[in-house]
Amino acid sequence: MKKLIIANWKMNPQGSQDARRLANKIWRGVQKFRNIEVALAPPFIHLPLIFNLKPPTSDIKLCAQDAFYEKSGAYTGEISTSQLKSYGVKLIIVGHSERRALGETDDIVNKKLKAVFAGGMRALLCVGEKEKIKDEAFPTVIRDEIHFGLKKIKKSLLKNLIIAYEPIWAIGAGKADAPKDIYEMTLMIRRELCRMLGRNIALRVPILYGGSVDERNVVALLKHGGVDGFLVGGASLNHKKFVKMVKEASSI
Ligand code: PGA
Repeated sequence: MKKLIIANWKMNPQGSQDARRLANKIWRGVQKFRNIEVALAPPFIHLPLIFNLKPPTSDIKLCAQDAFYEKSGAYTGEISTSQLKSYGVKLIIVGHSERRALGETDDIVNKKLKAVFAGGMRALLCVGEKEKIKDEAFPTVIRDEIHFGLKKIKKSLLKNLIIAYEPIWAIGAGKADAPKDIYEMTLMIRRELCRMLGRNIALRVPILYGGSVDERNVVALLKHGGVDGFLVGGASLNHKKFVKMVKEASSI
């Protein structure tokens, strides 16, 4: 499985020129690293211009930060999976903690996952605990986010599932979780998936890590964290840092 690194720009940059410049520089910088899959997740508004800049390739993809679960209709402010697909989006982030903090429930996350899979796209389900809990090896909140998120979704569709473990306390904190703790958490997530879905499916679900990943910690996190890639926020807004990160990751 190729490692996957997703640049989650969140609500940045503010202008179209800056978005174009950043995408261009990232694209040019990472295209030579063939053993790695890179995806850009800009805000919706910048997707068309990035799509037109350079149509996505099999190794450099466009990702959306969210999508609505209805197909079309009177839903002011929402974006459908088919609209995203028409701009080359292949992958959609669902249930990021910043959206859950705005009121997105497990039920909504579940509906969105179903919509993404129905559209034949890949979904990145984000899970993570608010605080580091010492006595609880596998936090109930993570188990619930996985169980409720995947409720009543046909197993055959889960070939398009990716999970991102993102401890909320490590997001934007400037300090990532310790590689050995990430390793243990990914093992527990994998074990839970095996129990729910069977080994065949569970072993194929990529598990990413997100939370203060940058060009300095990416090697240690890949070598000792047992993950298949990263969801990167802050460091993806600096093309030099991001390209360096991809380069470091491709050398492992
Ligand atoms: P960060 O964000 O890299 O800035 O910590 C990660 C994320 O929220 O996906």
